[in-house]
Amino acid sequence: MARKISHIGVLCSGGDAPGMNAAIRAVVRAAIYHGCEVTGIKRGFQGLLEEEFTPLQASSVANIIHRGGTILKTARSDGFFKRSERVRAGKVLKQRGVGGLVVIGGDGSFRGAKAFEEDTGLKSIGIPGTIDNDIEGSEDTIGFDTALNTVIQSIDRIRDTASSHSRTFLIEVMGRHCGAIAIWSGIGGGAESIVIPETWKNLNHEAKIVADTMQKGIRRGKGSSIILVAEGEARDLSNGTRSRAEELAIELQKHGFSSKICILGHTQRGGSPTAHDRMLASTLGAKAVETLLSGVSGKMVAIRNGNVVVAPYPSLRAKRKSEKLSPKLRSLLRLASILSA
Ligand code: F6P
Repeated sequence: MARKISHIGVLCSGGDAPGMNAAIRAVVRAAIYHGCEVTGIKRGFQGLLEEEFTPLQASSVANIIHRGGTILKTARSDGFFKRSERVRAGKVLKQRGVGGLVVIGGDGSFRGAKAFEEDTGLKSIGIPGTIDNDIEGSEDTIGFDTALNTVIQSIDRIRDTASSHSRTFLIEVMGRHCGAIAIWSGIGGGAESIVIPETWKNLNHEAKIVADTMQKGIRRGKGSSIILVAEGEARDLSNGTRSRAEELAIELQKHGFSSKICILGHTQRGGSPTAHDRMLASTLGAKAVETLLSGVSGKMVAIRNGNVVVAPYPSLRAKRKSEKLSPKLRSLLRLASILSA
């Protein structure tokens, strides 16, 4: 029979997301309620390799539910790709008596957790935490709602000045592979056009679609436009590379449209979590602990049909949700184009 877990480790990995602190709080408080000890692992899997541990009590997570970021800090770790390093880290955790891990992060973090369990036998449960809402198998992720609200506040402000000056604005939001933020905030913010990675063909094609929509708007007397652009694949802007919004702006000039650009960038990742994200993080955090203690591992807690469920990690071989447009996003995109007609 599997040994009962009496000591849980918790870490955040990948990009931070508002609500991660609420999730840590829920994990710690639920674990203590069930009689477990908790160790916080700082800076994700990198901190695990470097043995950055901190004991967590109920009081350690007081007054953090409203704070953005993560008190445990987070990182992306190259070292953790090495099997030998994972095995070494597993031994360290076992020596400390840690019998299971709760990993808060995105699908890259879950891949790390899965590999770690395969190499060391250490059980883990994932909690989907990313502003991108791009985790296959969960309708929602911690931080998405807060990021959306941040984006919509920005759109509203930009709309005021766009309308006063009769200007077009390209607002670039996060989403390397997934257009969820662009689509949801595009609808909520009343955008005329939304450009996303899943349907991206090439610059000429996208610019033509946007220009056609703007042309239609002008015909019915529109003076200003808001275009939502998801950032698309990773780029290094420090070496002069253009952002996707900049590329589009240049291409739109060829169609006779000049536009202003606003890249919201990491403003989308910070800030106090919304009520929705606090609730989501609290329920998923407690469920993750209960799931781990029931002996289940190698899975994530997730939202399906509005309910909290235990689901498989996104398959390694499955296409990322981001690479194909999900039926839900497809229908929202259609709604967006109806509403901007
Ligand atoms: O958190 C997800 C995400 O925000 C992506 O949308 C974005 O491309 C990426 O992280 C950027 O993160 P970083 O700047 O930390 O590498």
